[in-house]
Amino acid sequence: MHSSRTALTNEAEVEALLQQMTLAEKIGQMTQVEKNSIQPEDAANYFIGSVLSGGGGNPQNNTPENWAQMVRSFQEAAQTTRLRIPLIYGSDAVHGHNNVRGAVIFPHNVALGATRDADLVQRVANITARELQATGVHWNFAPAVSVPQDIRWGRTYEGFSENTELVITLGTAYVCGLQDHDPRTLASVKHFVGDGGTRWGTTRSYSWMYGNWQAPGDGYKIDQGDNQDDEATLRATHLAPYRAAIEAGALNIMVSFSSWQGTKMHAQRYLLTDVLKGELGFNGFLISDWMAISQIDEDYYTSVVTAINAGLDMVMVPFDYKAFISTLTRAVEQGDVSMTRIDDAVQRILRAKFWLGMFDYPFGRDDLLPEVGSAAHREVAREAVRKSAVLLKNEGVLPLAKDTRLLVAGSGADNLGKQCGGWSIDWQGAQGEITQGTTILEGIRQTIGGAQVSYNENGVFADDERAAVGVVVVGEAPYAEGLGDNGTLTLPAEDIAVIERMRQRVKKLVVILLSGRPLLIANPLALSDAFVAAWLPGTEGQGVADVLFGDTPFVGRLSFSFPRSIEQVPLPALKQHPDGAMFPFGYGLS
Ligand code: GLC
Repeated sequence: MHSSRTALTNEAEVEALLQQMTLAEKIGQMTQVEKNSIQPEDAANYFIGSVLSGGGGNPQNNTPENWAQMVRSFQEAAQTTRLRIPLIYGSDAVHGHNNVRGAVIFPHNVALGATRDADLVQRVANITARELQATGVHWNFAPAVSVPQDIRWGRTYEGFSENTELVITLGTAYVCGLQDHDPRTLASVKHFVGDGGTRWGTTRSYSWMYGNWQAPGDGYKIDQGDNQDDEATLRATHLAPYRAAIEAGALNIMVSFSSWQGTKMHAQRYLLTDVLKGELGFNGFLISDWMAISQIDEDYYTSVVTAINAGLDMVMVPFDYKAFISTLTRAVEQGDVSMTRIDDAVQRILRAKFWLGMFDYPFGRDDLLPEVGSAAHREVAREAVRKSAVLLKNEGVLPLAKDTRLLVAGSGADNLGKQCGGWSIDWQGAQGEITQGTTILEGIRQTIGGAQVSYNENGVFADDERAAVGVVVVGEAPYAEGLGDNGTLTLPAEDIAVIERMRQRVKKLVVILLSGRPLLIANPLALSDAFVAAWLPGTEGQGVADVLFGDTPFVGRLSFSFPRSIEQVPLPALKQHPDGAMFPFGYGLS
């Protein structure tokens, strides 16, 4: 299933091209700029190597065609430069080409982990590649091979599992899905290394960057924090997926905002150069995270020199590219960064662009535009939704008969944005009809017809509205990154209220949970007769109806343990706890 280490057949061309390049052209290749920070002609003037869309970096009118035009404008500019080195565009397509309205949005990785299905993950990645390249994007900032050990982390759902072996299986499948099929698309394996093992309360503030801004609530209490594992644990739990991804042919790795034993990963020369490039033989290039090098030191010159000498090859600036270019140029002129280091970085970048075939064909695949959001693509997403739903409790309720009269309620029943979670159209996602898709309620109605279904979000019905069965869909509001850090992990009070209200009204109550991670569910679980963990299923909510009515069986198995209480968080605490998990890794009824 996995290609051997990527066959690099362009070394001669890389070397020949490098010899022709000026210092300005070399440093331009090492510079990645956010698309709102630069005009295409300046991308040419400064020989910029890459442009990205951050989360929600969409054209004014967010359509696949306008995305393709936006990306093409940068590529056309790059074609006017002296050496015509193609510019590579990057975007976070972490669950489908999720920024683009109309693209199919797949379940997040937390759900794919519950499928245990590596072949499905490869197909998901290939479809994502097809929708990306329809818009001219050759580089996906995915897969995350984080191994989240603390479900209070707002990025838990970007991880496949708490279990390293499962992350390896599905992470390498995703890399192969992007890279070993048509259209060949560059994976970015992230975030190196140990991003999922940071300790609660260790995230630092960087006053020279963010002033005295404080995130609301528990925001950024663990994201970008300090991983204090010893080296053996770091290697066994968090490094292993990178070793596997390199063997599977990865040519790009994104460095983590987090720290290891108090040192920022972007300054970790031992791990970035000695271990990753030396011991593991990584021959691709390292990209920084968003303005992450500036967290190294208040002095920007020090940050740039430290990061490049630690092993960073391309820097996600993303705004003031002129400052980055002039600072790195000065560092080379002053001898603080060697030309050897610059040449190594540029070789690695050019190697990936040659491997992608971009020197022969730098543009997007307009022929794939009709496939964006197609029924065939949505069918695969629906399959992923079916296979990821985990049945945690079922006392004689599921599957529902198709002649059942149903009362449906809950904040997540008819809410596409809540189904999708973060990284959906906008960075943080949003509630409501954010794009085209099928809500769980619409899926239920398509399965059994609208006449048998009464819906009220708050579970308030006329007194004579009776039904034997109620379905309540509840869960987390969308979030991304540190803004999703959460130290309590309980359901919102209004969700509990709807469950209690429905409990009074129906004989059998089915609760469906939409969440990016396990939550503390003892109370809603006790109130339910059946309980389904549906994670963040994306646009194809029909897949939830498929398993509710038995069109397909429940096959999902937990990829993260459900703790009984907060005392069993993080995972090491659970493993030491005498009572064991409420639902352990691997649990799932069928
Ligand atoms: C974000 C994330 C990273 C993403 C990058 C570009 O802050 O940490 O996962 O790829 O910036 O959006």
